Amino acid sequence: MCGIVGYVGKLQAAPVLLEGLAKLEYRGYDSSGIAVVRPDGIETVKAKGRLKNLQALTDDGKKLSGSTGIGHTRWATHGAPSDTNAHPHMSGQKKFAIVHNGIIENYLELKEFLIGRGFRFQSDTDTEVVAHLIEHYFSGSMTETLHKAVNKLKGSYALGVLYAGEPDRLYCARKDSPLVIGLSAGAGFVASDMPALLAHTRRFILLDDNETACIRADGFDIYNANNEPVEKEPFTAEWDVAAAEKDGFPHFMLKEIHEQPRALRQTLSPRLAASNVELHLKKLTREAFAAFDCLHIAACGSAYHAGIVGKYFIEKLCRIPVQVTLASEFRYCDPLIDDRTLTVIISQSGETADTLAALREAKRLGSAVLSIVNVVGSSIARESDDVLYTAAGPEISVATTKGYTTQVSALYLLGLYLAGIKETAAPKTLAAYAGALAELPALVERMIGDATPAVQLLASLFHGANDAYYIGRGTDYAAAMEGALKLKEISYIHAEAYAAGELKHGTISLIEKGSLVVALATDPALYPKIRSNITEVRTRGAVVFLVTDDKSGFFAGEYEYIVTLPDAEPAFSAVLSAAVMQLFGYYTAAAKGLDIDKPRNLAKSVTVE
Ligand code: G6P
Repeated sequence: MCGIVGYVGKLQAAPVLLEGLAKLEYRGYDSSGIAVVRPDGIETVKAKGRLKNLQALTDDGKKLSGSTGIGHTRWATHGAPSDTNAHPHMSGQKKFAIVHNGIIENYLELKEFLIGRGFRFQSDTDTEVVAHLIEHYFSGSMTETLHKAVNKLKGSYALGVLYAGEPDRLYCARKDSPLVIGLSAGAGFVASDMPALLAHTRRFILLDDNETACIRADGFDIYNANNEPVEKEPFTAEWDVAAAEKDGFPHFMLKEIHEQPRALRQTLSPRLAASNVELHLKKLTREAFAAFDCLHIAACGSAYHAGIVGKYFIEKLCRIPVQVTLASEFRYCDPLIDDRTLTVIISQSGETADTLAALREAKRLGSAVLSIVNVVGSSIARESDDVLYTAAGPEISVATTKGYTTQVSALYLLGLYLAGIKETAAPKTLAAYAGALAELPALVERMIGDATPAVQLLASLFHGANDAYYIGRGTDYAAAMEGALKLKEISYIHAEAYAAGELKHGTISLIEKGSLVVALATDPALYPKIRSNITEVRTRGAVVFLVTDDKSGFFAGEYEYIVTLPDAEPAFSAVLSAAVMQLFGYYTAAAKGLDIDKPRNLAKSVTVE
């Protein structure tokens, strides 16, 4: 949830750290801080609120000399957002400074232990114990001390550590929270994720759980859980610096909406042949797929919504039960899975704590795990039996767009692949689907261009709404869930999705004159049913915004507020309607003048449970 960055090299560290934090702010943005270490000791500066406060306080870092440092942008868990609770935290004698992402679950116990040994605490955070613990165990050897200290921690952590006695070294450690080491000529870095460092390097090393590292300007040493040195080869990331910039768009969200055609193309085309689908998996064979008798999908947030779209598609095509469970509930619902279940874990970041926990539980229960992940080498990718990578590129906006639609498209691929193996659809049908899927990126591109003016107008009309009801049937219901989330998370308008047929069982009592209803109608077989539901809410005064792919003229002339999707295979309409609803959420939030890329209280990468 928090962002960490560290630098050791020849440049002034503070401006480099602030630049890195600016790229990580989507991970948390209620306070921030940096620490630099010089031969005369460690200096920290912290500020409540957005990073711009820290930038102003330090004159964009120019006020802090020193060429080794750590920085942090925070999403508060323990202790309210404040200057004091902001990281870095210092040890009692100010010999050590640390930044942390994660939760130290046994911090109260450790705090008591440390207070008993004379340590005084400044903050309400769980993190501060780590700084004091390192000081308490300090033996003269930092690697040995760090190893000893992290062994006392329960919970999750990515740590960046400075030691006043070694101003040319940066230390770090990780367990269940992401951390990458970046390498360039004459400099070493550490960060929560790669986009923070792309301006400096594309050469990375992924730290594994229970590893610690010492980074210098001219190299690094990594140690395993037993504090033995380990060799690791750097890899070169495919993402480039432009991918992590706004590129002329006012917000990352709008840029990422417009990147969807490319992201979809890169996700789909390497796996789509003329008449079939190839997933290029490493471990899960076609025989293994043939033997699975059900699928269990676990994910959080929009990835969960993608899973529901996938369920509709896969069940219909593959005639196999597909259960979708919120990853945060997975461990508590005693899931009915075994070695005949394929567990599908969906996560853009590959680091969501609940989703990772669901993956581990599925493996414990004997299930094979296929993950659909965007970030290469992330924890979920590494712990899965196989990975189907989406090719969305870095997603910076907290509200996901291209991350979600590429997940949905990966599930379409999975459905086609499985149906081919299980022979639940004729080769001709599968070839037609594959052809339609190949056309999807171009349709999304056209649709974004065509729909934008209409959606902008609708957003300018409806941005004053207090509530919005998204309704649909079948896949449109699944798509409506994501549409409602897109609106509420960035525009702060209360929005909920309902299966259109359910309205009469309670929710319709909320409909009154002027209520906003967003109705999705992309399945011709269901047009008559959804029209009845729309009529019911209109009769009660609702204003209806209809998103449809009506080619037959079924709805013609009936609706004032309507966006028509291009001609597409109805099975894949969720991707097209998603783009309309993303634009509607975006322009509604823009009309309200809100901070679209960083909505209040949210963080993009939720690495705490
Ligand atoms: C956060 C993000 C959502 C995302 C969810 C799951 O809440 O804001 O956009 O859908 O986490 O994230 P994941 O990285 O696992 O897909």
